[in-house]
Amino acid sequence: MTSSSNPGHNPQSRYADFHRRSIGDPEGFWRDEARRIHWETPFDTVLDRSRPPFARWFTGGRTNLCHNAVDRHLAERPQQNALVYVSTETGIERRYTYADLHAEVNRMAAVMRSLGVKRGDRVLIYLPMIPEAVFAVLACARLGAIHSVVFGGFAAPNLAARIDDAKPVLVVTADAGARAGKVIDYTPLVDEALARSKHQPARVLLIDRNLAPERLSAPYLVAYEPLREQFFDAHVPCEWLESNEPSYVLYTSGTTGRPKGVQRDVGGYAVALAASMAYIYEGRAGDTMFTASDIGWVVGHSYIIYAPLIAGLTTVMYEGTPVRPDGGIWWRLVEQHRINLMFTAPTAIRVLKKQDPALMRAADLSSLRTLFLAGEPLDEPTAEWVGSALGKPVVDNYWQTETGWPMLAIQRGIEALPPKLGSPGVPVYGYDLTLRNELTGEPCAPGEKGVITLAYPLPPGCMQTVWGDDERFVKTYWSSVPGVQVYSTFDWGVQDEDGYVTILGRTDDVINVAGHRLGTREIEEALSGHAAVAEVAVVGVTDAIKGQVARAFVVLREADRYADPASRAKLEQELTATVDRQLGAIARPARVHVVSLLPKTRSGKLLRRAIAALAEGRDPGDLPTIEDPSALQQVRAALEE
Ligand code: PRX
Repeated sequence: MTSSSNPGHNPQSRYADFHRRSIGDPEGFWRDEARRIHWETPFDTVLDRSRPPFARWFTGGRTNLCHNAVDRHLAERPQQNALVYVSTETGIERRYTYADLHAEVNRMAAVMRSLGVKRGDRVLIYLPMIPEAVFAVLACARLGAIHSVVFGGFAAPNLAARIDDAKPVLVVTADAGARAGKVIDYTPLVDEALARSKHQPARVLLIDRNLAPERLSAPYLVAYEPLREQFFDAHVPCEWLESNEPSYVLYTSGTTGRPKGVQRDVGGYAVALAASMAYIYEGRAGDTMFTASDIGWVVGHSYIIYAPLIAGLTTVMYEGTPVRPDGGIWWRLVEQHRINLMFTAPTAIRVLKKQDPALMRAADLSSLRTLFLAGEPLDEPTAEWVGSALGKPVVDNYWQTETGWPMLAIQRGIEALPPKLGSPGVPVYGYDLTLRNELTGEPCAPGEKGVITLAYPLPPGCMQTVWGDDERFVKTYWSSVPGVQVYSTFDWGVQDEDGYVTILGRTDDVINVAGHRLGTREIEEALSGHAAVAEVAVVGVTDAIKGQVARAFVVLREADRYADPASRAKLEQELTATVDRQLGAIARPARVHVVSLLPKTRSGKLLRRAIAALAEGRDPGDLPTIEDPSALQQVRAALEE
């Protein structure tokens, strides 16, 4: 496939040269890559380094993400499918050619414009996995409006916090989502969010799927369908945006309970995604890509919507689970839609591994070239199983909401370096990645554990700043490693002699449940809101399927009231329901344990790592600063209950 098949050639040289050039001469490297997209006006400067750690790519250049994803393909591939939509929840399947997608995006853009949306305005998109979500995202891009997609599984208070931070002029929602056969009404959540938020959007646009009872009576709701009819033949020109104008804000969890709005640009993102399709995903125009994620996560933004469309592929959007109607559904999709590239999270593969192997064998998987996995550590047994069951390369790739595209991967489009089990591979071009000692800031020797850091400047496509809070961007991401101003990923890792990095978990209080990033602080804050709770610690604990699950340890205000098993069980239920209401079911702790004391340092800091160790049956190690060692015994006893 690539140069490594060339006998007698240093297996690493092609990749190493490529990476070296990207770091040594970022201006030259990215000037070349920028040719992959359309620029309405050429840029003056490849990289503006005048205000580190901020980097501005392709300044002065004017372009548009929607033009690059849709309009640009109309000449060459108007009748190729751009979007194939499959819902096993509703039984609906739809195909949109590039010409159809263009028409739908124009309709949506015209509707938004009629509701007052203009360049620079924010539009909050709270939608399930329906084609209109893609139209809405691309319509925002077309108008130069800034989209903020909120994952449909998030609850009303989460939504309210994002509404207050992004201050959207418009919220786009649907009557309902559906998951595993259950209909989830969205409009009551939107009602509640708007009742809680200080900011009030001018309008709420409702896509009626006819799943939930008619709710169009609410005075602030505007129905999409009649407006779509009204603007059926609309043509809305693309706004040519300066490369560094914001394209979107996507909220993500961090150390504090307050989510951060990751802000991305236009030109740099388009270039980075186009390049990643060539060098990492090897997706060519005309190929079909199935990314099983959600539009509410960064993987959905980058690899359901923007990257495959920018590169002229067909993207497959799926609403449903991997095991309904049975565990062969995804493999049948590969066969039916001749899928070439598939991208999901390791959790999905762990789930599929438990299914009858005949389901996979029954499908014709000959179209599939590569399986990509990201979002959480890929354990060796899962990697080995899926690699041999499929007989295709499996490419683990490591990145974050903040970076928007991979930092570590085997970049098969450059050179198919041999994968090493347990490692997502080597640093990707553009990323000057170094593992550093957390205490000294010095680079680590091979084999030595350290924090994964990136040197300035971050390559195109990475976050520009925290929405509305430059200071928080600098303080959070660029100030945590002693002695040097580098970007911290907040991930531990270890790099071997050949440059392969293995991820060893987060340095902060972020946990990863089934590839979903959650802040333990957010869950703690939700639980503290319950009247019975005096104190709480939430930790991530290893789980065979989901990678990690959250477990909560609570100290009660009046423990005696919950002494008998029945009232204790009821309380545990109430507490998990509190998390569902505040954050959404994805954040629900797998267990709530009651203790009378939590392990803390003498200065009052919760010893979360010690709690996690105990919950995983590990030795918490020496804890010289612990205030009361009997707290550990309490945790042990609660775990045994
Ligand atoms: O801890 C790392 C883990 O997921 C975090 C980022 O999550 P999110 O912002 O949701 O972005 C996901 C984009 C794929 C990282 O800080 N993570 C992501 N990919 C991997 C991973 N851990 C191990 N291996 C990976 N391939």
